[in-house]
Amino acid sequence: MTQFFTEGDSVGSVNARMGDNVNPRLRQVMTSLVSHVHAFIKDVELTQEEWDFAIHFFTKTGQICSEERQEFILLSDVLGVSMLVDAINNRRPAGATENTVFGPFHVADAPVRQMGENICLDGKGETCVFEGRVIDLNGNPVEGAHVDVWSDNADGFYDVQQPGIQPKWNNRGIFITGEDGQYNFVGIKPVCYPIPNDGPVGKMLDAIGRHPYRPAHMHFLVTAPGFQKLVTHTFVGDDHYITSDAVFGVKKTLVAPYEKTEGGEGVWHSRFDFVLTPITDN
Ligand code: BEZ
Ligand code: FE
Repeated sequence: MTQFFTEGDSVGSVNARMGDNVNPRLRQVMTSLVSHVHAFIKDVELTQEEWDFAIHFFTKTGQICSEERQEFILLSDVLGVSMLVDAINNRRPAGATENTVFGPFHVADAPVRQMGENICLDGKGETCVFEGRVIDLNGNPVEGAHVDVWSDNADGFYDVQQPGIQPKWNNRGIFITGEDGQYNFVGIKPVCYPIPNDGPVGKMLDAIGRHPYRPAHMHFLVTAPGFQKLVTHTFVGDDHYITSDAVFGVKKTLVAPYEKTEGGEGVWHSRFDFVLTPITDN
């Protein structure tokens, strides 16, 4: 039967066009996508002007993307989509360290550094010693884990946002655990910063009365053979933005101690153990 498009059966009209030999998962995803997008448009009775505005918004979002800037990831982050996809795909057993948003500022192949080395190359900020262990669910140390770390500098920018201003690899490095599973390095006590907000996503946040700030955090990517990749941060608990992260990355279990130890001459310490989840067959 020929299906002409009608408002009432708009979803059926579109989904009926799908071919017979379509990958089953693609069929499921596309059918559901059409159904939800149409339901949204009907729910808000979208006007022509609003749809034109949306097309313009997506066009601008694509146009601002470059090697250094990924506006679609930012859009996904501020809408909570990145965290939701991450949550669905990283359900972990009790006791395992939780994932959070990866963000756009990781750079692959950072320098491998010796335990205890200082990753802060611009001399700015309050010194902080990061230390702890990489362990499995039974508390056994994980040897050979790569602890890849990155943070903003004291001015709230990652090195890749300020080429020529910050030294390359500022506040980044990879530390490889020995048989005791321990890691330690020197960095700075992280500071809060706004996500890039000079593009369409920033304008959208402004229009809906949201700030662009992330609470202070240190990024960790921990990998080891036989274990699930851990993409996480440790957060500074008393940060002003701890309960209003622009990208919804804060989890209770990831709020870490950041303490000034007595007699430590103003040096901060943050101790955190990373508990890895084994890769299983199912
Ligand atoms: C970050 O933590 O580096 C980040 C995460 C999401 C969007 C922008 C930045
Ligand atoms: Fe960050």
